[in-house]
Amino acid sequence: MPVLAIVGGQWGDEGKGKVVDQLAEKADVVVRFSGGDNAGHTVINHLGEFKLHLVPAGIFSSRVLCVIGNGVVINPAVLMSEIAGLNKSGVDTSKLAISDRAHLVMPYHILLDELEEKSRAGKALGTTKRGIGPAFADKASRLGIRTCDLLDKAALKERLAMVLEGKNTLFTKVYGVPPVSLDEIYAKYCEYADFLFPFIKDTAALLDHALEKKQLVILEGAQGALLDPDFGTYPYGTSSSPLTAGACLGAGIAPNRIDRVLGIFKVYCTRVGNGPMPTELLDETGQKIREIAHEYGTTTGRPRRIGWFDAVAARFSCRINGLTGVALTRLDVFDTVPTLKICTGYELNGKRIDYFPASVAELEKCKPIYEELPGWGKPITDVRRFKDLPGEAQKYVRRIEELMGCPVNMACCGPSREQVIQLKPVI
Ligand code: IMP
Repeated sequence: MPVLAIVGGQWGDEGKGKVVDQLAEKADVVVRFSGGDNAGHTVINHLGEFKLHLVPAGIFSSRVLCVIGNGVVINPAVLMSEIAGLNKSGVDTSKLAISDRAHLVMPYHILLDELEEKSRAGKALGTTKRGIGPAFADKASRLGIRTCDLLDKAALKERLAMVLEGKNTLFTKVYGVPPVSLDEIYAKYCEYADFLFPFIKDTAALLDHALEKKQLVILEGAQGALLDPDFGTYPYGTSSSPLTAGACLGAGIAPNRIDRVLGIFKVYCTRVGNGPMPTELLDETGQKIREIAHEYGTTTGRPRRIGWFDAVAARFSCRINGLTGVALTRLDVFDTVPTLKICTGYELNGKRIDYFPASVAELEKCKPIYEELPGWGKPITDVRRFKDLPGEAQKYVRRIEELMGCPVNMACCGPSREQVIQLKPVI
């Protein structure tokens, strides 16, 4: 049985939750490997509609071991309320395991995220203000608090006191805000520790065990390639790697154990937060797509920016992720859009380029070069076979496939688990 990584190909919100939920029916283990509760994975299935932030989207298949990997930063309050919400809806969370190496989002990370964004003034990144950047910064600075630290409360207090000394100097002397309280944070995290204790495990060892038994493991990404700190639109991106490489580190699995990588792409682009987006539509078409598709952030409720499918960025994403297949989502959103455009290249300083520039200043200057394709003008939400799609929809999918240089394995034509057209088996 293979190990399959599922990664976002664009700027996040591609519909990874739906695809993981669908494929998890066959899986033994699903591991979330990066990000934190900045992510919002929407799943609609026979149990209802769910918005997951930390819990892997495999949670709805009761036999699946669901792992929150070491690469995820965990806000325990958010996780606890997510678990409680799932339980209330009758979803069993007893097969959830949390890596003992995962870092925690602390209240001072959330405060810092807010203060840093304010201090960036006109150059704000547009973060989700969930403390994700500061939590990953502390991980790199070796100031993080990890889930395993919750297991020894005396040591936790000592470490927290050391970390807070620095943080409170920053709050009071640099930002001019009141210090945070050691006692309050300690008391809260002791409560969280008691709740989370049974879930905290050496999850890399659990995974190894699953691999030995030849079980099917799905590595579930968060965000998307173009938000990657190395290959995304830096600094307008997130703080952990949503790429396949990030899956290895964030799940604790060696690169040579990953067999297949499925990249998830919407048939158009969306982006929340600031930063360049060459194909952005600031006109009525963009507004129309936003309303049809209800493109508002799952985590923050912010309206998402809309753009045509960017094949330059998509090709880059395929390469950098080593994609073996693609799932296209939201094809049905185009049911009433008369003419579709795909960006096949950029014009930069009067010349055509076909690469995704490293510099955001350059990317901001890139003008998309479009190819136009006719829409299909009829509903496709009930279609389940590729050959039953209108010819124009088939052509649109095939053209994207050709431009990306990667096979399209599936196309989604509605939000629920069943609304999927399989072109080629994923696993
Ligand atoms: P942060 O991850 O909260 O620091 O936000 C950094 C950037 O990544 C902002 O532009 C966010 O809007 C974006 N971002 C973070 N998580 C997601 C996500 O799950 N979907 C889409 N955009 C995201």
